[in-house]
Amino acid sequence: MKCRINPRRSRAAVSPMIYGSFIEHHHRQVYGGIYDPKSKFADEDGFRGDVIEAVKQLKTPVIRWPGGCFVDDYHWKNGVGPDRLPSFDKNWKVEELNTFGTDEFMKFCRKTGAEPYLCTNATASPEEASDWVEYCNLESDGRYAKARIANGYEKPWGVKYWSIGNENYFPYQVGGSDLDTWLRYSLQTAKVMKRVDPDIELSAAMTMDNLEWCVRTLEQIGFALSWVSLHGYWDFVYKGDLAFGTVPGPKVIPNAKNADYEECMRNVEKIRSPIARMRALLTAAGFDSSIKIAFDEWNLRGWYHPYILEGHPNRKEDYLPERSRNDDNSLYTMADAVFSACFLNECLRNADIVGMANFSPLVNTRGAIFTHENGIVKRSTYHVLDLYMNHFGNERVDIWSGNPETYETGGTECEVLDVAAAERTADGVYTVAVANKDAENSRSAAFDFDAGFAPKSFSIYTVNGEDKASYNDVGRDEICIVKTADKQKFAAGSDIRFEPHSVNIIEFEA
Ligand code: AHR
Repeated sequence: MKCRINPRRSRAAVSPMIYGSFIEHHHRQVYGGIYDPKSKFADEDGFRGDVIEAVKQLKTPVIRWPGGCFVDDYHWKNGVGPDRLPSFDKNWKVEELNTFGTDEFMKFCRKTGAEPYLCTNATASPEEASDWVEYCNLESDGRYAKARIANGYEKPWGVKYWSIGNENYFPYQVGGSDLDTWLRYSLQTAKVMKRVDPDIELSAAMTMDNLEWCVRTLEQIGFALSWVSLHGYWDFVYKGDLAFGTVPGPKVIPNAKNADYEECMRNVEKIRSPIARMRALLTAAGFDSSIKIAFDEWNLRGWYHPYILEGHPNRKEDYLPERSRNDDNSLYTMADAVFSACFLNECLRNADIVGMANFSPLVNTRGAIFTHENGIVKRSTYHVLDLYMNHFGNERVDIWSGNPETYETGGTECEVLDVAAAERTADGVYTVAVANKDAENSRSAAFDFDAGFAPKSFSIYTVNGEDKASYNDVGRDEICIVKTADKQKFAAGSDIRFEPHSVNIIEFEA
């Protein structure tokens, strides 16, 4: 394949927040994940020190919390102050201890260097959401800022990113809402939250599977939004009618499964559509310069959390043990790594409209980091986030492939190499991300630069394992970042080879 890079064309700042993440009160993400006062790795505040170090290496710029579905029944006031009682989490049907709440999350963000991004409960009340803004952002006016001060936090936390709701368009979720109720609720909530702090940046739950929801939400509260939230999990299937008021039919299959490598690669083809369609919608509605896309939950793998709604066709009685299936580290292979790289490449190619993306989740469940009694496992996806955050450029530039190679798999024509390019403006290095989807063969590409940039040498950092099914586990480190080329002489137009099932970042040095 031949690629031309034009350093002058399509320039757009890459938001580092596309390497963001997400933590939900689900299974062992919070308790036993980032927060575990009984662990031998616990710091003075009860946070896992080994997790904090791993997150700092990722330089995770933003973390969304507390859900996810959990937020539909979360009342933040239960999780602050000295008198905290457990509550029953009606979403996941477990007891929520409330020992980890807003102040603990803020401390975790401070320790890791991440910006907090709070998702509000859109089935509570507009007041509950705006009281939360008061607690976090007001200096001292009002009872909630005073409560924060009384709890020992003199300075406001200064939370900039907030969203109204989580997936409220899905009728069978606890927070599921009909459109008219949602519109009334979100308008009132946006107004009062912004009244408390006009500088906050608001997002709202959206899905391209329900165009009417998106169009009417933009009409109603587009003026108050800086973001629209999209979610994507690709290795499970939604089919059937999800409209409010209908019982999900037998074709709805919302349980996670484990697609094989080739199916994961075919799923790459589906990443493009929600971003392209949301871009078109924002443009058509005249919001493309004021609203960006926050892909604030994404992962190849949908989580194991069987549906527990009465009457749901996929309901399982033994839903609790099912969650432990997420802990099987052998499920997170080079398929996850290559898919994740392709997802990030799509965000990078759309850097002018995608401003945030949150890998879902950061720790445990199907996350990048797995915790156990004696340490952590960095899954394949961890190394991809590490690679991109620490090597890829911050200013997207144009990369054009005249004749991309394709391969046929299961009736789908897939491009073999998935590429994105950016300049790293701090040192003038041009970086190109290359994911090779081909599981059997190394593949090559030749690079050339327009507009006067003439690299002298290149280096390559690669995430890979011996096999497409390689994985990391306790005592097993098969996938890591390796420098596979070190300041090699660059010749324009000559082939550079990429290992099978690999994720690479080339650094072209002048
Ligand atoms: O599988 C992830 C969970 O389901 C999150 O709670 C929710 O937001 C999502 O769809």
